[in-house]
Amino acid sequence: MAIRLGDEAPNFTAETTEGSINFHEWKGSSWAVLFSHPKDFTPVCTTELGAVAKLKPEFEKRNVKVIGLSVDPVDSHRRWAADIQDVTGAALNFPLIADPDRSVALSYDMIHPNASETATVRSVFVIGGDNKVKLSLTYPASTGRNFQELLRSIDSLQLTAGYSVATPADWKQGEDVIIVPAVSDEDAKKKFPAGFVAKKPYLRVTPQPDRAAKV
Ligand code: BEZ
Repeated sequence: MAIRLGDEAPNFTAETTEGSINFHEWKGSSWAVLFSHPKDFTPVCTTELGAVAKLKPEFEKRNVKVIGLSVDPVDSHRRWAADIQDVTGAALNFPLIADPDRSVALSYDMIHPNASETATVRSVFVIGGDNKVKLSLTYPASTGRNFQELLRSIDSLQLTAGYSVATPADWKQGEDVIIVPAVSDEDAKKKFPAGFVAKKPYLRVTPQPDRAAKV
């Protein structure tokens, strides 16, 4: 069944390159990114895993644990890890799930039979501290993902979880944000002491609140 935003992320126990993991126990109250790969020893996936390994400190800064999935067995993952290091210069520094019976892939609806009967698509799930799915993305095998965009989206998710704001098109950390329409002007004056500009009655912008609080 498809996993929708707000659903609980299905739990599973699986072999990974870092041993057997019970997903919910491993994740604890951190956020997590779970992302799938069509197959081991494939070119796009090799570049993606190296890219995420290099960005691990950025995920950690945001209290996000990263875990990959490819349906091949764990001994294949270990051999592939040497190639990933060789090609990208980055050691695989997060667990990669082996899912030979595709049970995890099926529970997250990562196999789209009209794309491929056997390989997973490039799914991404961002899961909050409460184990609920906050964001999902689906890319085809032929298109590598942009992990800077994933970090940017996590910044928005974590900010909007804590304040009554939304982020506009192409927003980046530190830029002005939008006050959600459910907040009245009167309440907005109290909630956002840095003030706001009403470009339209329904489009009010204010400095990013956690930054504004520091200045
Ligand atoms: C890749 O990871 O490079 C890939 C995998 C399946 C189909 C096409 C590309």
